[in-house]
Amino acid sequence: MATEFTDSNLETLYSAAQISERVAELGAEIARDYAAKDLVFIGILKGSCIFLADLIRTVDLRLTIDFMAVSSYKDEKVSSGDVEILKDLTNPIRGKDVIICEDIVDTGLTLFRLLEILGSRGANSIKIATLLDKPAPRLKKELKIDYCGFQIPNKFVVGYGLDAAGRYRNLPFIGVVKNPDEL
Ligand code: IMP
Ligand code: MG
Repeated sequence: MATEFTDSNLETLYSAAQISERVAELGAEIARDYAAKDLVFIGILKGSCIFLADLIRTVDLRLTIDFMAVSSYKDEKVSSGDVEILKDLTNPIRGKDVIICEDIVDTGLTLFRLLEILGSRGANSIKIATLLDKPAPRLKKELKIDYCGFQIPNKFVVGYGLDAAGRYRNLPFIGVVKNPDEL
């Protein structure tokens, strides 16, 4: 990557090279698991856009993609406790093998609600892929993460799709915010 991104309030947690290596491992695993299946990746906007774009290019299968936009954080750094659907899927998932693609699982509330919503639509299977998983206590213990890039410390992170109030999504690495008050 030719561009240098510098921000004194960020400390690199995973470099672009580390992310790319791990994403390729996940893609190979998914390709093995879904051979001969009708696989659709559902990207949860906006945070998963970069992860999804990179991940699907490492999955050597005839897959499709779709997107949902949900809001749970509303520009805040703590969960608002509710999940609002801002944009629903374009196509039905009946009979399909679905992988929901998320940037990060924190409380698990967003994905738990999404599983409830999508679980009633007749998919053949629904699994979860997330780039990052925080060890924060899950509101719902039943949430099973099938494909996880990295387990991270319980800190606020940005980059590679993840934002702070809409910014930093374009960073090619994942950084820990040193001082959240200075964002
Ligand atoms: P959950 O419902 O608590 O699991 O929250 C998941 C959503 O919260 C993610 O899709 C992100 O949009 C947001 N989120 C949680 N932790 C972070 C973080 O450290 N940085 C940026 N966004 C975060
Ligand atoms: Mg998100």
